[in-house]
Amino acid sequence: MYNVRKIVDDLYWVGGSDHRLELFENIHPISDGVSYNAYVLLDEKTVLFDTVDWSICRQFLENLEHVLNGRDLDYVIINHMEPDHAASMEEVLLRYPNAKVISTEKSIMMMYQFGFNVEGRTETVAEGDSRCFGKHTIAFVDAQMVHWPEAMVSYDTSNGVLFSADAFGSFKALDGKLFADEVNFDRDWIDEARRYLTNIVGKYGPEVMHLLKKAGTLDIKVICPLHGPVWRKPEDIQYILGKYIKWATYEPEEKGVLIVYASMYGNTESAAQVLATKLVEKGMTNVRVYDVSKTHVSYLVSEAFKYSHIVFASVTYNLQIYPVMKEFLEHLAMLNLQNRICGIIENGSWAPQSGSLIREFLDDEMKQMSIINSELSIISSLQEKDQRDMDLFVDSLLDTMNEE
Ligand code: FEO
Repeated sequence: MYNVRKIVDDLYWVGGSDHRLELFENIHPISDGVSYNAYVLLDEKTVLFDTVDWSICRQFLENLEHVLNGRDLDYVIINHMEPDHAASMEEVLLRYPNAKVISTEKSIMMMYQFGFNVEGRTETVAEGDSRCFGKHTIAFVDAQMVHWPEAMVSYDTSNGVLFSADAFGSFKALDGKLFADEVNFDRDWIDEARRYLTNIVGKYGPEVMHLLKKAGTLDIKVICPLHGPVWRKPEDIQYILGKYIKWATYEPEEKGVLIVYASMYGNTESAAQVLATKLVEKGMTNVRVYDVSKTHVSYLVSEAFKYSHIVFASVTYNLQIYPVMKEFLEHLAMLNLQNRICGIIENGSWAPQSGSLIREFLDDEMKQMSIINSELSIISSLQEKDQRDMDLFVDSLLDTMNEE
């Protein structure tokens, strides 16, 4: 059965949600599902904006057919060629043999790379180009590396609708609620929006900012992303823009302490909990504690983008950083996280050195990660004699908060 929604006059959502997929990009858990959005413009010409992942192709084709209501499809605009959006493109072209594909040069090159038969059916566009389809003129804006090099966004100059590709997207299935104003976004969606952006596009903060600057010159009334809800209220658009600026510039959203620990037998965990308690007792209640071994790294990355302070508490393992903690650090570096205040707690029963190795990693592999002076080195377990060092550690962390 078709399942579509009207966005504004002449424009319809024809995407769908998927609750079956376990791992987005076969790496990030999506226990609340994900949506793949596609849109149809009914003008003198009919225009489809992007397609969907193969998993929901059947639903999407039914939606497309219903919205076209007997009309032929004239154009498919591909803003982003990644298969979670473009996988169903070839099926659309088979069903609508007169449809032409409009996209960037790199994107068309990728269509051939992915084995799509688009010979004689493509029109290349670049930044500054536009196409008129009747009442609606669509302008194309380069969005390189948001999130692949071929990406662009499209802007309807007649009504201010921005087709923003991966930008402003989110994990989570829509479950009927297409618009951001139909959900409590700040309560129910923001964590998944941050986890999506930081893990998928986090590395490309400067490119996201470049796109946001260009978007700032447009009179945007509605944002139609390829995942997650559509944004149509000015205050909601300002809200998500504000979040994007923070994430893209690696500025923390909140003053608070993220404590991530790696513990084999519960002793480093105990130290992490003691630290949390002391912070709270001294008034810093915005503290989150995670076991690195039990929490998927995508959640930890998202939290690291959120908080101003990060404490890495790690046991020493084979004279190295505990492997899962090392992996977390590598993800942070890969995603370009920077500008955080860090504390380090190490543990080891005969040769603790995870602390110096973490320090080395933060100094050499990451940018603007300042480490507080106090370091806590635990031999096997936190003892009464370590209380003074722990208190100094807490005070050092809190001092940096008061300085800000
Ligand atoms: Fe949702 Fe970069 O694809």
